[in-house]
Amino acid sequence: MCGIVGYVGQRAAEDVIIDGLRRLEYRGYDSAGIALFNEQELFVEKHAGRLSVLEGYLSANPHRDARLGIGHTRWATHGAPNDVNAHPHTGCTPRFAVVHNGIIENYNELRRELMARGHRFVTETDTEVLPHLLEEVYAGDLATAVFEVVAKLRGAYALAVVTSEDPNTVIAYRQDSPLIIGLGQGENFLASDIPALLPYTRQTVVLDDGDLAVLRSSGVSFYREGKEIEKDIFTVTWDEVAAEKAGFDHFMLKEIHEQPKALRDTLSGRILEQGTNLAEEIGLTSDMIKGINRVVVVACGTAYHAGLVGKTLIERLARIHVEVDYASEFRYRQPVLNPNDLVIIISQSGETADTLAALREAKRQGCTVVAITNVVGSSVSREGQHVLHTWAGPEIAVASTKAYTTQLAALTLMAIELGLGRKTLKVTRAQELLRGLREIPLQVGEIIAQAEKIKAVAEHVAKSEHVFFIGRGLDFNVALEGALKLKEISYIHAEAYAAGELKHGTLALITAGTPVICLFTQAELQEKMVSNVEVVRARGGYTVSISSCCADVTGTISDVEIRLPETDPLLAPMLSVVPLQLLAYYAAVTRGADVDKPRNLAKSVTVE
Ligand code: AGP
Repeated sequence: MCGIVGYVGQRAAEDVIIDGLRRLEYRGYDSAGIALFNEQELFVEKHAGRLSVLEGYLSANPHRDARLGIGHTRWATHGAPNDVNAHPHTGCTPRFAVVHNGIIENYNELRRELMARGHRFVTETDTEVLPHLLEEVYAGDLATAVFEVVAKLRGAYALAVVTSEDPNTVIAYRQDSPLIIGLGQGENFLASDIPALLPYTRQTVVLDDGDLAVLRSSGVSFYREGKEIEKDIFTVTWDEVAAEKAGFDHFMLKEIHEQPKALRDTLSGRILEQGTNLAEEIGLTSDMIKGINRVVVVACGTAYHAGLVGKTLIERLARIHVEVDYASEFRYRQPVLNPNDLVIIISQSGETADTLAALREAKRQGCTVVAITNVVGSSVSREGQHVLHTWAGPEIAVASTKAYTTQLAALTLMAIELGLGRKTLKVTRAQELLRGLREIPLQVGEIIAQAEKIKAVAEHVAKSEHVFFIGRGLDFNVALEGALKLKEISYIHAEAYAAGELKHGTLALITAGTPVICLFTQAELQEKMVSNVEVVRARGGYTVSISSCCADVTGTISDVEIRLPETDPLLAPMLSVVPLQLLAYYAAVTRGADVDKPRNLAKSVTVE
């Protein structure tokens, strides 16, 4: 996730900005930059790599007389992580400097229009359209110009803007990406997250969507739709560690709560009226899509579980045979691959050694490789021939949550694209799924709102040493993910089973009070599932249903029922996993486990 810091006041702006960006480092970034104004020159310095690289250049070329500036740490989305693509961005002339968090969905059309009017672009970023637009509309007042520019934008963006034509002003604008103002005495601050402000002030104003702030050393004024407004001042009471987690007790809980935004960002700009633009985005031609005779999905852990869901989605919608392989097994089974195979590599970090090795083996055998990853510039991202990024933002907790749900969103788009491309999926059915997909972020938020009920279940489950997760079809795939979540952070032994498989052995382990988490989202399988759960109940199992179908029954066969919002069965995994994430989280907290850094585990397994 990118970091933004801005300052105007009596101090050396670079000190405040660099210190602030360092306090946002935990959010993950791949480049950093700063714009400083000392009333003579608008100076911009930006480099790929860590903040220390930028500091090296600043100490060689200091601008300590600058009392105003903006800074940025970039988590690359559009454009590789390099010096040119780093923020701040300027236009044809160094009159405006802009830093930006978020995604400008319509940047391509804006860029084309600006180039047609003679503007010269030097970066691959969506952000660069902003200073060029400012050059066209600026007529002496920066706030007015920013309002005119944002009226042309679609997407999510938090902006900070300075101009060499106004040495006292920093403009901040927020749309769907956080920005917070820090109020000082004779100085004022802005940042994308509270930790950057804490050494200087705890008096803050949180901007809402559509808010613009004008920061000067004398004070800050706020506007919306061009009119001045009043904003409440919020006194921050968090300590710095709590602030990094935005007030949540753990990164994992913060990241579970970030899923609505992560899903919105991942879907942003990829859903069209008649389908998706995925093939164009990742460079799959129509002939390539028609020529696929098999799909092989390769991943590890949670990403593997996402791949299992992807198998069903692609087989149902594109009618292509799909195999799913553990990356650690794939290479060693000497897979028989051919050029008509589409190999889908899934990796949140993009650095998992086994998964990267599988990608290289698939390329060696001449397959078409699509990489689904959350980290731009990662090895998987660089070596994948066709890359589909999830926009979940950095995932800090070892237990993967928002990466999983955004991988499912990406795989759903992929399955729809393949189905439409091979004419196995009607446009009307695709539109129905896409309408459902648009609803998912909101519905995930509705489930998170049930956290207290899920927490109560977790506190009961936390007393057990063995927990089972059962489901059929896609519910079984999600049960596997739920079991992994619980065991990896609470250290409770958990197993997932295809519900129909229980009677072939595992049922022997179900005794009075054994918790069994039952997933009910696949209506076509509900009757079988009900009888499987009744068998568990007859042995005294403690059944918890996570359900969005057969409401008339699940209540009678469950000790506890967590109802999910209604959605298409193919989209249900993005919803049914959320209670399982929260269940694992609260069980781990109840047992006093180290939730964000569970024993023996690493966030990215870069060794085989
Ligand atoms: C998931 O909660 C685990 N932390 C782990 O299984 C993880 O999903 C696996 O190591 C794969 O990581 P990747 O997606 O970064 O390749």
